[in-house]
Amino acid sequence: MISPEDMEKLIRSELKDMPAYIPIEPTDVLSRRINLPEENVIKLDGNENPYGCSLRVKQTLADYAYYHLYPDPEQRELRKALAKYTGVSIENILAGSGSDELIDLILRLFIRPGDGVVNCPPTFGMYPFSTDVCGGKVVSVPRQQDFSIDIPATKKAMAKGAKVIFIASPNNPSGNITSEPVILEFLNSDTVVVIDEAYFEFSGETMVPLVAKYSNLIVLRTFSKWAGLAGLRVGYGIFPVNIVKHLMKIKQPYNINAAAQVAALESLKDISHLRGTIKAIINERERLMARLGQLGWLKSYPSRSNFILCSVLNGRARAIHKGLQKRGIFVRYFDTPLLKDCLRISVGKPEHTDALIAALKEMR
Ligand SMILES: Cc1ncc(COP(=O)(O)O)c(C=O)c1O
Repeated sequence: MISPEDMEKLIRSELKDMPAYIPIEPTDVLSRRINLPEENVIKLDGNENPYGCSLRVKQTLADYAYYHLYPDPEQRELRKALAKYTGVSIENILAGSGSDELIDLILRLFIRPGDGVVNCPPTFGMYPFSTDVCGGKVVSVPRQQDFSIDIPATKKAMAKGAKVIFIASPNNPSGNITSEPVILEFLNSDTVVVIDEAYFEFSGETMVPLVAKYSNLIVLRTFSKWAGLAGLRVGYGIFPVNIVKHLMKIKQPYNINAAAQVAALESLKDISHLRGTIKAIINERERLMARLGQLGWLKSYPSRSNFILCSVLNGRARAIHKGLQKRGIFVRYFDTPLLKDCLRISVGKPEHTDALIAALKEMR
């Protein structure tokens, strides 16, 4: 039998030193950590939907009769409904277990070890993470001070043979969008351009109509944010038709479980209710932005999303983050070279904003 040490030696060497992705924790874990009941936890760290999912989702899942059967591997009903929702053909669509799975599948389709993937940090951590897992080479082109993309540097990185570029629009964690003229500049290239529109329903800006014109454009979306289905893991992509065929082939056959397929379908049937909660979140974002500004020691960046990034001007971001945690309020803290002393605050319900602002005032 092989020793544990020799077993370790069999692991792909490039994965041994790879940094782990730092995920957010669920409410029960957070509540135990701070010794407060779960209902006292105010979770503003995951850009989740504070209003939860549609009631129709809960009722239909309770009545669903086919949990003992495998779900449709071709996701036909869901893709049909998504085609109607997005205005493209069913042949352009594939759903994944969260858009996270689609990021991974796209990279596995295009990236051989050593191939370049352009990443524009600060941005969503799954792009470099999944590139690393595939053995690809992350080519980092940092965003500018206002978090817009550095266009000449990005084009230069793409021209050096990068196979894929990821652009989140709105970007997480900065909340800004990348405009269509900028994306068009990147589309006129040999690189696969992935526009991640996880927060589309809050920004209203989409590149989906361009997929018919550009054979190198992929747009990703998710039900995690606007539809309140983060826990069920449903995302989808709008792809050139020839790419769907290959992704369908390499994905796990039953990648979207039955409950997730039903929940996504019911969400699309309850769209007018969900649009109401999206509007409530957008209104609350503006109120939160104003209240944060009144504090005088936080600089908030304009957001087209369901979260707000703030720089803590007195350099006490870590202490503020900890102090909020003690009071049961969880936000995301960043202290990286590109994001010094920053907090990202997801938009909650009005009572969450009030509790957060009261806590911040106590800590000034
Ligand atoms: C830009 C971006 N893309 C994708 C995701 C992940 O979405 P999903 O829950 O569908 O995997 C997130 C989640 O925070 C995100 O911020």
